[in-house]
Amino acid sequence: MKNKQDTPAQKAPNLNGLKEISTDKTFMLIEPGNLVLLTTRDNSKNNVMALSWIMPMDFAARFALVTGSWNYSCRALEKTRQCVLAIPPAGILKKAVSTGNLDGGEVDDKFAECGLTPLPARDVCAPLVAECIANIECKIVDRIKKHDIFILQGITAWLNPKLRKAKRVHAVGNGTFIEDGRTINLKKFMLKRPDIEDL
Ligand SMILES: Cc1cc2nc3c(=O)[nH]c(=O)nc-3n(C[C@H](O)[C@H](O)[C@H](O)COP(=O)(O)O)c2cc1C
Repeated sequence: MKNKQDTPAQKAPNLNGLKEISTDKTFMLIEPGNLVLLTTRDNSKNNVMALSWIMPMDFAARFALVTGSWNYSCRALEKTRQCVLAIPPAGILKKAVSTGNLDGGEVDDKFAECGLTPLPARDVCAPLVAECIANIECKIVDRIKKHDIFILQGITAWLNPKLRKAKRVHAVGNGTFIEDGRTINLKKFMLKRPDIEDL
């Protein structure tokens, strides 16, 4: 028999009108990082895919992303251990999303198909994306296969000064996106914030 404290909270008589929702939808409540384009290059073939499940892990350009072997990009990442994270401005959202509709294994040139322009990176084999606000050249430093997680280390980063103030987009699930809104500056209030210059 269950103890009183084991009784699930949803069985409580008064939840102030709260409505239970399926946990399958909760990923839409925790906004991942802004939408990125993940580029790879394997066997002289450039590839690019939309990716929203990504997060910074520290202040030293370490990131975690989620992608699995069902994607061509995952296999290219495993093989080359290099990639670029490109940050698309809201103005190219449809192009960015179109990279998520095509399988790199079935398309010769996804950049061309999606209307994007590859540029050579300096320190990795994967290409930069010319239309993006910024590009981060990365090496894979770890892989947690059980959870389809790659840990990346950014080694070189490029900013397009003309797009510095462009709005980014955030994928919140089910084909919906949020464009950057009002900027709130609480620098003076954040006492533990490391002192970093703006982009
Ligand atoms: C907005 C958006 C976000 C996506 N986020 C991810 C993601 O975080 N991880 C993932 O594995 N796939 C994600 N996808 C799906 C891939 O982009 C899609 O499967 C793509 O076709 C893979 O391309 P590839 O086979 O060339 O690697 C996303 C797609 C879209 C449109």
